[in-house]
Amino acid sequence: MPDTMAISTSKPDRFDRDGQDQLIDVQDLQAALPGIRRLRNWAQDALALQPGESAVDIGSGTGSEVFAFADRVGPTGTALGVEPDPQLLNAAERRAKQYESTAKFVSGDAYGLPFGSETFDAALCERVFQHLTAPARAAGEIARVLKPGGRVVVMDSDWGTAIVHPGDRGVVRQVIETMVAGTTNPFAGRQLAGQLTAAGLVVDDIGSHALIQESGIGAGALVARVADMAVARGAITEPQRDQLIADLEAGAASGDIHLSVTIFAVLAHKPSA
Ligand SMILES: C[S@@+](CC[C@H](N)C(=O)[O-])C[C@H]1O[C@@H](n2cnc3c(N)ncnc32)[C@H](O)[C@@H]1O
Repeated sequence: MPDTMAISTSKPDRFDRDGQDQLIDVQDLQAALPGIRRLRNWAQDALALQPGESAVDIGSGTGSEVFAFADRVGPTGTALGVEPDPQLLNAAERRAKQYESTAKFVSGDAYGLPFGSETFDAALCERVFQHLTAPARAAGEIARVLKPGGRVVVMDSDWGTAIVHPGDRGVVRQVIETMVAGTTNPFAGRQLAGQLTAAGLVVDDIGSHALIQESGIGAGALVARVADMAVARGAITEPQRDQLIADLEAGAASGDIHLSVTIFAVLAHKPSA
């Protein structure tokens, strides 16, 4: 299950191990996943940024997509990232210096973007809506800051599409339900088009990619952790958890393992007045 950040209950974007904050490492690992790379390429092509344009990435994390924006809009354009987490913001700013990129980063929140109306030619919001309690408000903010004719890609996972194989189906269902229960907005992916439409945008295309966990990692830390959570909430027993992990390890050893979740990406534009 690649989107590890989605399942912690209190701080969904953090993955602490041995007391160390792994946030930046996790983002870098996720950026390297083939499904994420393919969707990002799709998003960058769909946004079709031109030299001199202005583009914003909302919830920009470590800034990788803002660096790509900066390359496309060139020295006469504007490439901005908005990020509420100070640690990620600092990492993005450090990388901008290191890469000698013109990308800029500002502290801000999807619920109240720190920009005037009709500022940007293009916007991106990747795997942020799953963390939002009021995604419709964020969609409204995106619509507000886009210029008439401006384009946006919003992409997010939908935990209703999660697959854990092999394993007893009843146990797997409970583990996935536990993951759903621990995610702020677990069905974000399927709702994106409706939320952008309700915000006054016109949907032009919808794409998707399954993020498939590499078989080499066996049951994986995420499934093990969610299975522990399922035991803690009384959804499965300890022996059922142990059997599931054993089944997954055996599947990994024989090549019969599949852990995935699907991410949906919606391209939309703001109609001209
Ligand atoms: C899964 S990470 C994705 C980061 C980046 N978009 C990427 O694709 O690499 C989720 C991001 O959403 C950000 N986030 C969470 N809540 C947010 C909010 N209310 N407004 C803006 N960003 C938010 C987090 O700080 C984090 O950077």
